[in-house]
Amino acid sequence: MPIQNEVLVRAVDLRKSYGEHEAVRGVDFEILRGEAFGFLGANGAGKSTTMRMIGCVSQPTGGTLEVFDRDPRTEGASIRARLGVVPQDNTLDGMLTVFENLVVYAGYFGIRKKAAREKAAELLDFVQLTPRSKDQVSELSGGMQRRLAIARSLINDPDLVILDEPTTGLDPQARHLVWERLFQLKQRGVSILLTTHYMDEAEQLCDRLVVMDEGRIIAAGSPRELIDTHVTKEVVELRFGAAHTTELAELAPALAGVGAQIEPLPDKILVYTDDADDTSAALEARGVQPTSTLARRATLEDVFLRLTGRALVEDEA
Ligand SMILES: Nc1ncnc2c1ncn2[C@@H]1O[C@H](COP(=O)(O)OP(=O)(O)OP(=O)(O)O)[C@@H](O)[C@H]1O
Ligand SMILES: [Mg+2]
Repeated sequence: MPIQNEVLVRAVDLRKSYGEHEAVRGVDFEILRGEAFGFLGANGAGKSTTMRMIGCVSQPTGGTLEVFDRDPRTEGASIRARLGVVPQDNTLDGMLTVFENLVVYAGYFGIRKKAAREKAAELLDFVQLTPRSKDQVSELSGGMQRRLAIARSLINDPDLVILDEPTTGLDPQARHLVWERLFQLKQRGVSILLTTHYMDEAEQLCDRLVVMDEGRIIAAGSPRELIDTHVTKEVVELRFGAAHTTELAELAPALAGVGAQIEPLPDKILVYTDDADDTSAALEARGVQPTSTLARRATLEDVFLRLTGRALVEDEA
């Protein structure tokens, strides 16, 4: 029987140093049974380092960590038996077939051959790779390899699946397929822990998330709570063509006092506001003439920008 609000992972002042460099600088969080929990953060924030500590493949250098009420330092094997892990780099065996990858992995959990083969077939069906079972992994697309890594993580019927950037590098269609499968998993009662750079991914998949930056958690809550707490309801994006960056200083006085906050980015200016229509009208009345204007609802990306002054994905295609 699942216990309500059962804590699967508890971190208190968790830290990890590599020599002089402190990659994780004292983070606190609790992951509950049944939820999808996200770590949103830019490159180098410490997401993978945290996932690896939870996955018992890297030891904390400070603070406490409990996974399934156990200590990863001393009870790694019994924790890993209940975890599914999809590492950032798939770590699939390119020389084996799709099917063999799953069966060999099942062996690490002591699953017998016959049961392993049945489970492998069921999981390939789940991630829609059955037609590719006999292919070598190296022949699969990036999206298919990701799905295979997800299938592999489920071989031991884990209580919690950790996915480190499940969709980075995938095309939109491949991403949606992964999201849909993760949603299905959650419906089946599997708890999910994922890291991502993508605010849309976090918004769609996560019940709760933390925003991580330079080894620290700088905000926590549901996507809705984070947006409500840290940014206004709406955003007006103003583009001024190629010359904008140098002209920004000249534009600033014209924008002062419009909206709740102005955020200049390299390619555009964001005006945070609770009423985009009013703000657009106010800008027009002041004679501000952008080459294009876009009004939209605020997103987690805006939360991240407001908190760090930096974009989550610096050069996304
Ligand atoms: N094995 C290691 N040895 C030394 N430094 C490391 C090691 N692993 C990570 N780091 C450093 O720790 C910091 C956090 O890295 P980590 O991989 O956890 O970030 P991340 O949030 O997963 O980033 P990304 O989005 O790029 O995957 C970085 O500065 C990184 O260079
Ligand atoms: Mg990482």
